[in-house]
Amino acid sequence: MTSTDIRSRFLEFFKKRGHAVIPSASLVTPNEKGITNATLFNTAGMQPLVPFLLGKVHPLGQRLVDAQKCLRTVDIDDVGDRTHGTFFEMLGNWSLGDYFKKEAIHWSYEFLTSKSEDIGNRGLGLDPNRLYVTVFEGDTIASRDEEAASIWKDIFMKNDVLGAQGDTRLGQAGKVFYLPAANNWWEAGDNGPCGPDTEMYYDVKNVFGGRPITRDQFIQADVARDVVEVWNDVFMQYEKKDGKIIGNLPKPSVDTGAGLERLTMALQDVDNIYDTDLFRSVMSALKKNSRHFDLKSARIISDHIRSATFLIGDGVTPSNTDRGYILRRLLRRAIRYAKSIDLSVHLHDLVDIYAESYKNIYPNIFSDKHQIKTEIRGESEKFERTLEVGIKEFGKLATTKKVNTGDTTRSSITGTEAFLLFSSYGFPIDMTVDLAKENNLAVDVAGFNEEFKEHQDLSRSGAEKKFKGGLEGTTDGHADPMVVRYHTATHLLHQALREVLGDTATQKGSNITPERLRFDLSHGAKMTEEEKKKVEDIVNEQILAALPVKNVILPKNLAEKTGALHLFGEKYDDDVSVYFIGGNLIGSGDTQTIDGAFSKEFCGGPHVENTKELSGPEGKWHFKIQKEEAVAQGVRRIKAILS
Ligand code: ALA
Repeated sequence: MTSTDIRSRFLEFFKKRGHAVIPSASLVTPNEKGITNATLFNTAGMQPLVPFLLGKVHPLGQRLVDAQKCLRTVDIDDVGDRTHGTFFEMLGNWSLGDYFKKEAIHWSYEFLTSKSEDIGNRGLGLDPNRLYVTVFEGDTIASRDEEAASIWKDIFMKNDVLGAQGDTRLGQAGKVFYLPAANNWWEAGDNGPCGPDTEMYYDVKNVFGGRPITRDQFIQADVARDVVEVWNDVFMQYEKKDGKIIGNLPKPSVDTGAGLERLTMALQDVDNIYDTDLFRSVMSALKKNSRHFDLKSARIISDHIRSATFLIGDGVTPSNTDRGYILRRLLRRAIRYAKSIDLSVHLHDLVDIYAESYKNIYPNIFSDKHQIKTEIRGESEKFERTLEVGIKEFGKLATTKKVNTGDTTRSSITGTEAFLLFSSYGFPIDMTVDLAKENNLAVDVAGFNEEFKEHQDLSRSGAEKKFKGGLEGTTDGHADPMVVRYHTATHLLHQALREVLGDTATQKGSNITPERLRFDLSHGAKMTEEEKKKVEDIVNEQILAALPVKNVILPKNLAEKTGALHLFGEKYDDDVSVYFIGGNLIGSGDTQTIDGAFSKEFCGGPHVENTKELSGPEGKWHFKIQKEEAVAQGVRRIKAILS
């Protein structure tokens, strides 16, 4: 049975039982507070329906069914094992104040086990003997769910299921197990509808041969994933606010969720989701086209590219905040793993495979595939450029750590170092953690987070303004001539610093007055006298060379292709202004680029027309660094003058 069959059988089955089929909502949650529990993406099928579970009238009635796109990144570290993924589809049927436990459980059982071939009654034909179910054991908030347990027991007895009579509460072997709230209570965060649930498990590998088992055996089998949860029926009865139950829902409702990936795995008789038809073609493309194939890496790539495909399909683009950052992390992780298996096809080409297989279910993935591929390609190219240098840099760092301590297991990457990898090479923190793990190093993640916050403020106040809109406090043509000189000098300094200190010396802030320039850069150590001298010399050479300063407006993608410096991950307009010192604009249309420039930056100006203006009216001034000091962890501040 294909995953497509499973999805359509589910929808037909509940349609026949009076449910309106609704399309999946976007992965992206709306921004209204209080409705979505402030998650960035839908993490369960019920999320888009929360207002209706709380009593709002749904235009299509009280019985609904759908397959909802979901994204969960909490388990991102587990992706690559047998059952975890970030994107998945959740099949669900809903009663909005209509039917309750009895119908919900009966229909779940019928759908799981039905062998009928009539449309609308077709189910999955699973062996009833291999089903094991759990119910809520009760606590101080809500009582034991005897009702759900007895409904199950009746069903199992009527269908002659092996061991149906066993009472697992008396230590006997049976098919129904009582578990605490940690297992059998469902809520999405601290606010919204919640209640006890009953979960259905299937003995995928037929470990128990359909026999009844004890509660302890069940718990062990769950941990070992011998039994796999395939469906969850939640009996929504209460409303929570700020973590406390504040009362009953207007009407008890039902929210169910069956993960399509896991169901497919059970039905296709494989022990992991990556061997199902949902991933098989992509997995085999990865196997065919990698020189150092590694199963876990390939699974991670398959998962992340599928998630990225759907995220971009729902309008998310890579950035450094919120949803865009999640997408960026997924893509960058995929890129890194693609490198590690030496993949010879482009990641964006995998989109074709997904577009084809989801064509009839999510037509937008097919119709938007070019745009999806372009986004993935753009992010790959951007990342590739920095990644190689970054990985080398990381290798050096790791070696120093090992040499310094002589005990690799105890040394760790500091928050500052992790932040430097982020700001200079775009290493998401989880990637640094991954790399560190491979090198037997720890990472001070809390320290990284502190740095991150600190620098966000720094760059907001300084660099962002400069890169995006040019000089603060100037309007076109009316800037103080000294300020304009210092602005151009800042570009020269920026490039000179990169040449002397390496590409890690990136701008973190800038401030200019008629008296001096100030420039903050990410750099881990105090600059030596020799380094300062070299930087001064390079800047002075450019002034002496009397280089023209030119400006061009280019579409963002072309501007990026010129290699012009810009703030990592910053959002720019579709057309950006690039200032370049020395060099020429060559090519035309899509091939336009800047050739042979000493400095190139995204910048709004204003600048001098020629670097010789920096030597003053009489051509006698020189560029001098007056001060170099630490301003924050890993950030140095330079003050320089022309005199
Ligand atoms: N809302 C329930 C879940 O996500 C069905 O498991």
